[in-house]
Amino acid sequence: MRAVGFRINGGIEVLEELEVPEPVPAPGQVAVRVAFAGVNFAEIQHRRGEFGAPDGPGGVDIPGLEVSGTVVALGAGVSGPAVGQPVAAYLPAFGGYAETVAVDTRFVRPLHTAAGEADPARAAALPCVYPTAFGVLKDAGRLREGEDVLIHSAAGGVGSAAAQLARDMGAGRVYGTVGSVEKIPYAAGLGYDAVFLREGFAEHLAEATGGRGVDLVLDPVGGPVREQSLTALAPFGRVVAYGDLGRHEQWTASVWDLWKGNRTIAGFNIGDLARRAPDRIGAYLDEALRLLAAGRISAGVTQTLPLAEAAKAHELLETGTGRGKILLSLA
Ligand SMILES: NC(=O)c1ccc[n+]([C@@H]2O[C@H](COP(=O)([O-])OP(=O)(O)OC[C@H]3O[C@@H](n4cnc5c(N)ncnc54)[C@H](OP(=O)(O)O)[C@@H]3O)[C@@H](O)[C@H]2O)c1
Repeated sequence: MRAVGFRINGGIEVLEELEVPEPVPAPGQVAVRVAFAGVNFAEIQHRRGEFGAPDGPGGVDIPGLEVSGTVVALGAGVSGPAVGQPVAAYLPAFGGYAETVAVDTRFVRPLHTAAGEADPARAAALPCVYPTAFGVLKDAGRLREGEDVLIHSAAGGVGSAAAQLARDMGAGRVYGTVGSVEKIPYAAGLGYDAVFLREGFAEHLAEATGGRGVDLVLDPVGGPVREQSLTALAPFGRVVAYGDLGRHEQWTASVWDLWKGNRTIAGFNIGDLARRAPDRIGAYLDEALRLLAAGRISAGVTQTLPLAEAAKAHELLETGTGRGKILLSLA
């Protein structure tokens, strides 16, 4: 089958088009013929080597955390979803940049929902992004109705999903930050009450909130942005750390400052959830597909590129010039 993968870690030049054997579903898995694959920042981290050296079959790793497609084979002990059924799937062990992927049925959900049929050309943008957005807002962030939220990387995949869900969950004011002025009009169109440039955001936020700050900050950036986000919290506010885009691994928070300032830092990680509470991911994916089919969320797809242009998609995300969700088409 056709796939895009890498044999060594590195820049976008290590991504290559490959012919590899079709995966055979293990017990508890199904094989999905991929129609569309969502592109995520974590796939750039995978390619760079932040999750280790390639150790897939034949020394090749195939990135890709989320897909839509059709079930084509069942592993032993699997009675559903049925062969031929259109589905979306979260792929905890990667593999989405390929014609076929094998995945545990707990992460596979039908596109047919109680609210109608979810469009496969949009559904591929949901399986990693929406469980993450639900998790950061509800589980780690403990968002309550009427609370104010600040979302960093407001125009990105998880950021734009979280903005829509925060509204759907009854948040008060929803603010966003972006890394460059060119993104402000796009982000503003996503329904934020205000969008700030990340550089100097604390001052603008203080002004917008009359000095009160916000109840919840979603932070995939880290370092100084995390530090300033803590100071931007209202009493009992929470910062949810769920990424480290700025690569500030050494940054630490002082428990003393948290205690003295009535502030909380929480963490969210979908990989850990996949290992320890996999059914929650399936439930959030079901909910996201239903919201998509009902027209209550947009998948935020801004570009669909052929699989062969995976490197271009990576470049857009890695340079911070992409917006919304980029999909790869396997057609
Ligand atoms: N913990 C989890 O379980 C989990 C799950 C999914 C995703 N994530 C994290 O969520 C974040 C967003 O992921 P995504 O796939 O939705 O990507 P994305 O937001 O669509 O794209 C990445 C964006 O990050 C921003 N950014 C900020 N600092 C950056 C830097 N130093 N280098 C490059 N980009 C930078 C850029 O936008 P601006 O500059 O405009 O902000 C860029 O467009 C990532 O950190 C990812 O690891 C975590």
